[in-house]
Amino acid sequence: MSNAINDVLFGWYPYFCLTVFLLGSLIRFDREQYTWKTGSSQLLRRRQLRWGSNLFHVGILAIFGGHFVGLLTPIWVFDALGISHSFKQGLAITVGGIAGVACFVGIALLAHRRLFDARIRNTSAPGDIAILLLLWLQLTLGLSTIFVSLGHMDGHEMVKFMNWAQGILTLQPAAAAYVADVNPIFKAHLLLGMTIFLVFPFTRLVHVWSAPVWYLGRPGYQVVRTRLATRRSPAPVSTVPSPAPVRPIAIPAPQPAE
Ligand code: HEM
Repeated sequence: MSNAINDVLFGWYPYFCLTVFLLGSLIRFDREQYTWKTGSSQLLRRRQLRWGSNLFHVGILAIFGGHFVGLLTPIWVFDALGISHSFKQGLAITVGGIAGVACFVGIALLAHRRLFDARIRNTSAPGDIAILLLLWLQLTLGLSTIFVSLGHMDGHEMVKFMNWAQGILTLQPAAAAYVADVNPIFKAHLLLGMTIFLVFPFTRLVHVWSAPVWYLGRPGYQVVRTRLATRRSPAPVSTVPSPAPVRPIAIPAPQPAE
């Protein structure tokens, strides 16, 4: 790959993707509130959905957290904490690998359910299937990077990705040079990752913005009763006085005119 192409793909393409991601999400939120969701197919093949969805979400949230902290924490912070590059590389491989496998099994269940159940397939938009396959491909590429990373456990390649990601987010397109000579599997993974940001506002992924994380900081805001709790304890007693019962009123039938 020539330097010019590398600069475009890893120095400028990220800004194109991030702009569409932010502006697109904002415009869709503003103009298409009724489509701001992930369409539910919960009524169909519930068991497979539960396993697939839980494994997928646990895995992808762990991967997201790992990527966020791993790529965006300044290197001097790890150095100050005494965390060596090789330890961090090992941690990324182990934790990211376990989360990646969980996510992979989850996404396989979700894709199987959506593609091979005729009713779910018929009610799926093309975008629903496309984003699932895109995430599956990205996950496969991500897991493949582990075999490359095992060849440089000193963490020097990982430091290149940190410098690249932090350079791009601090508006330095020249940071593309950090990834100019990395393995093509990494390049493919970075490119597809940016492309997922690009298509994000046009897919069901927009529901990520509405994840109810704010509830965690509001204890007592929402009362949730599990089915188990309902079975064990009596129904909650209402303290609001119930309205007087409505008495039926007899309406006389109309009399025929004389
Ligand atoms: C712009 C978005 C993304 C970027 C820049 C990115 C970057 C990276 C990098 C640099 C690594 C190698 C870490 C190392 O070994 O040093 C990696 C690994 C990995 N990525 Fe991504 N990634 C992105 C999105 C994703 C997404 C959406 C998924 C899941 C669907 C994913 C799944 C993985 C997995 C499973 C690994 C291997 C385990 C690990 O090292 O954490 N990545 N990614």
